[in-house]
Amino acid sequence: ALVSMKEMMIKGKREGYAIGQFNLNNLEYTQAILQAAQAEQSPVILGVSEGAARYMGGFTTVVHMVKGLMHDYKITVPVAIHLDHGSSLEKCKEAIDAGFTSVMIDASAKPIEENIAITKQVVDYAHPKNVSVEAELGLVGGQEDDTIAEGVMYADPAECKRLVDETNIDCLAPALGSVHGPYKGEPNLGFKEMEEISNQSDLPLVLHGGTGIPTKDIQRSISLGTAKINVNTENQIQGTKKVREVLAADSEVYDPRKFLTPMREAIQATVVGKMREFGSSQKA
Ligand code: G3H
Ligand code: ZN
Repeated sequence: ALVSMKEMMIKGKREGYAIGQFNLNNLEYTQAILQAAQAEQSPVILGVSEGAARYMGGFTTVVHMVKGLMHDYKITVPVAIHLDHGSSLEKCKEAIDAGFTSVMIDASAKPIEENIAITKQVVDYAHPKNVSVEAELGLVGGQEDDTIAEGVMYADPAECKRLVDETNIDCLAPALGSVHGPYKGEPNLGFKEMEEISNQSDLPLVLHGGTGIPTKDIQRSISLGTAKINVNTENQIQGTKKVREVLAADSEVYDPRKFLTPMREAIQATVVGKMREFGSSQKA
């Protein structure tokens, strides 16, 4: 069923597991992620960046594609369609009007006052429609589509408290050293801050840049209240690796299904692995 992220995150935080947000890039990603979720009996969050939505045609195309597949595949597990790193109130409204069940407003580059004000406006628009809202503080490093950062900036716990208390958001993404895309060396996550931020409220925390974080850090993050972990790059790496293999092995291939089917299978296997690692399997 198509739902917001709210209930699944509350249950995850209470029972000590995290739900994966897996980003959509095209039809095959959507198929792979939905089939992994159904096979694992896991709740799932389909992350859609503004760039990816643009690539696929637009927010409405994404919603219809997801609904179509959920119908044809007889998906029964909880599924949220979530705008990833929404850049403005307007974009969040557009996604909600198109049928997204969840949005992230990423005003993390703005001063705290402004971040709070914009986030509040998004919550006011989203909540009456049963749409959940994620907000961010600090700076996730690396690059994902339009979200580009030089270096990282750790979220300030005092600012997190303000953002949570003043906006009524459903989950908080405090940037604490994670990056989009591959890590250069071991990630250095701010667990001290994570614990402090988590202790300030009941709100589930979100970990961006899930690709390349060691399992022990994933487990520690979950034990400190992280109930949502975002993964995109890992699926891209594993999927593209397969495409390369198929094309390199046979220069006569021209039917896209011949290389996109193995890509889709690799993505599905990767998502299944993440669901087991995050503990969300059999929790639908
Ligand atoms: O918002 C999406 C994620 O934070 C994805 O991060 O591409 O490093 O896995 P990743
Ligand atoms: Zn992110």
